Amino acid sequence: MASLPRWLLLLLPLLLCYVPCCSSAMQSWLQPFDLLYTAGVQAFFQGDWSQSRDYLQRALLSYTLLRQVKVSCQAQCQREAPLHVWLKDLSFMDAVLQRSECLEHCERLQLGPPTRHKVSSAVHKEFKRREPYNFLQAAYFKLGQMDAALAAAHTFFVANPQHAQIREDLGKYRNLQGVHWDSVRDLEALPYWKAYEEGMHHYNVQNYTQSILRLETSLKEVFMSLDECRALCEGTQEEETHTETQQKVYEIIAGWYVQLLKCKQACVKEIATKPGQKYPIHDFIPSHFHLLHSAYAAVNDGAAAVENILTYLLFYPRDDSAQEKLQQYRERFGEKEGVRARENVRAYIQQSLGEKRLIFYAMESLDVSFEDPDAWTPEENISEAVKDKLRAEKQKRREEEQEEERVEEERAAEEEQRGPLPFEGPRVTLDSRQLNGSHRVVLDGVLTWPECQEILRLARTPAGSGDGHQERRSPHTPHEHYKSLSVLKAVKLAGEGAVATPGIRLFLDAGERSRRIVESYFRTETSLFVSYTQLVCRTALEGKQDGRVDLSHPVHADNCVLDPEGRECWKEPPAYIHRDYSAVLFLNDDFEGGDLFFTDLDAITTTAEVRPTCGRLAAFSSGGENPHGVRAVTSGRRCVIALWFTHSSEHAEKERKEAEQLLTQTEISSPQEGSTSQRSSAPHETKNAQGRKQRVSPTERVRLTREEL
Ligand SMILES: *[C@@H]1O[C@H](CO)[C@@H](O)[C@H](O)[C@H]1NC(C)=O
Ligand SMILES: *[C@@H]1O[C@H](CO)[C@@H](O)[C@H](O)[C@H]1NC(C)=O
Ligand SMILES: *[C@@H]1O[C@H](CO)[C@@H](O)[C@H](O)[C@H]1NC(C)=O
Repeated sequence: MASLPRWLLLLLPLLLCYVPCCSSAMQSWLQPFDLLYTAGVQAFFQGDWSQSRDYLQRALLSYTLLRQVKVSCQAQCQREAPLHVWLKDLSFMDAVLQRSECLEHCERLQLGPPTRHKVSSAVHKEFKRREPYNFLQAAYFKLGQMDAALAAAHTFFVANPQHAQIREDLGKYRNLQGVHWDSVRDLEALPYWKAYEEGMHHYNVQNYTQSILRLETSLKEVFMSLDECRALCEGTQEEETHTETQQKVYEIIAGWYVQLLKCKQACVKEIATKPGQKYPIHDFIPSHFHLLHSAYAAVNDGAAAVENILTYLLFYPRDDSAQEKLQQYRERFGEKEGVRARENVRAYIQQSLGEKRLIFYAMESLDVSFEDPDAWTPEENISEAVKDKLRAEKQKRREEEQEEERVEEERAAEEEQRGPLPFEGPRVTLDSRQLNGSHRVVLDGVLTWPECQEILRLARTPAGSGDGHQERRSPHTPHEHYKSLSVLKAVKLAGEGAVATPGIRLFLDAGERSRRIVESYFRTETSLFVSYTQLVCRTALEGKQDGRVDLSHPVHADNCVLDPEGRECWKEPPAYIHRDYSAVLFLNDDFEGGDLFFTDLDAITTTAEVRPTCGRLAAFSSGGENPHGVRAVTSGRRCVIALWFTHSSEHAEKERKEAEQLLTQTEISSPQEGSTSQRSSAPHETKNAQGRKQRVSPTERVRLTREEL
């Protein structure tokens, strides 16, 4: 995302402060991209396509600009507060403090207080996966902007080549009348990939002049992208997860610095990995010089050929065939006085080797792991101990990859027995075998991050603002508060204006989405109905956690009475015997404790644990094969949507139907801002086979688009 697509630049003025509430002091600050993204997705679910499109465009622009500001502040502070000072006395710390102040000042001027742009790693990942483009393309499509839709869809596809749905839809988009083929381009394409590929192509057809032009461009851009990537390492540090309180101050500084160096080193790998690909291109940077020297020789530019083979030899001084070539060039073109390897490459290698030296040192003395992204690191610069360690780590990675592949294969095998997922988006993370049980599954990606936020907003409404919506003591433990909300109550709250409707739509949707996944994945013989849906939040009570040994929810089974001593589960009242499947759809992870766990029939032996995170669905059969409980929530608040499913139609959730009807009325009667809203005509609603009105989830919308085509 280094270069800014031109169409985004045009929007720049719009981006600087669009929020109506922002004070004049904040006018010139960049709007945080996660908020814009959330707003875009929210508008999407309200069917306000033009607003959704605008927010999403701004989100993408803000994301790019944020990175640019950080990179430019790095550059500026490198000049104004250099760190190349003699490492003596206090002058080093002086320099560090000055750099820190310079960066803080530079970024604050353009971005506002640092916390404004603190973005969850989940959102960062969604941007990296180009998720906003999936929403954006659908919004463009709805607005009839077909060229833009095609470009956005293609941009998403490039980073998600496995996404079958988008692949099919791209085909359909292309066949539409009036769509221009030349709009099929990757809006986030880094310029060097295009240059590199063209360079390779021209080289292969022996069009060397063209090849040289492209490869030189590629090189220039590669080094620029590399610099940017490395600068961003200094801008943001991954939060360290381990909390060793015993660490000495120098250990902390060393640890932090090694992290920084590793981040910078990893940039080579990032640069060499094409979007949507798993592995980087081998020897990406050195290979440029290899191609270039042959190309220059082919067009009889002796000096350039020698320059490039010398540059290549900087990486591989003992490459015999390259040495031979050099000899040949000297004979063929004569001695070229003053021709030397490229200076910027020499400096780059020295810098990189210097960093590696420090990392290797840390590997020997501290417990540091490292993957060397380069194949050219000279043997003599790696000690035997470090070589062993690098080898061991490589071996470990290979084994992990093999294990991953094996799991992938087994998953594919199980998936053959298991039903396919009904729509794109969710993926199976853990199957029954991995969960050490039967009829269990964990899926990720059932909700996106903005969707979780929207639903969580329902839980944040003031306590007591509606019947059954009060925060109360947990029925299971004195250490937690407990709040639950059924779909009907949520809709009634919406009617009173206490909560916003999009969240409720999503709340209802999430249940339906989960039902379809469970029905399809477990290949149930007859259809499943949702029998009950509940939004449940458990909040740790502050100051009441010391020495706590109890659970947030004791071990139980959902459709039978568990008798741990007899190792039986009695499927009889008062158990809810009509329940056939259960599911927990997690909404957040910013709390401590609260893991879902499964046990044996003894209710003691834990067989599997599931850590909550936004969009993760744990689904399982409701019987004695799946006793489960929830670990104590010791800090913060854990919110989930709890769902139960049944084969019996008379136990289908009546509230759900009523809620659907009420909600549709609420949505139609509630006034909309902006004239572009199409909510009342509900274009985002469709009828399913039973004629039931059903909201389309974001993961399904591509399918909907296809049906509409
Ligand atoms: C090399 O490529 C250029 C641009 O594509 C083209 O105009 C030229 O004819 C090609 N030359 C050869 C020898 O193929
Ligand atoms: C790498 O090894 C060479 C040869 O032993 C040495 O001259 C050079 O200083 C080393 N470089 C680094 C960065 O350790
Ligand atoms: C399944 O059991 C193994 C071995 O006890 C354990 O390492 C693993 O974490 C369990 N799986 C889950 C998902 O908890």
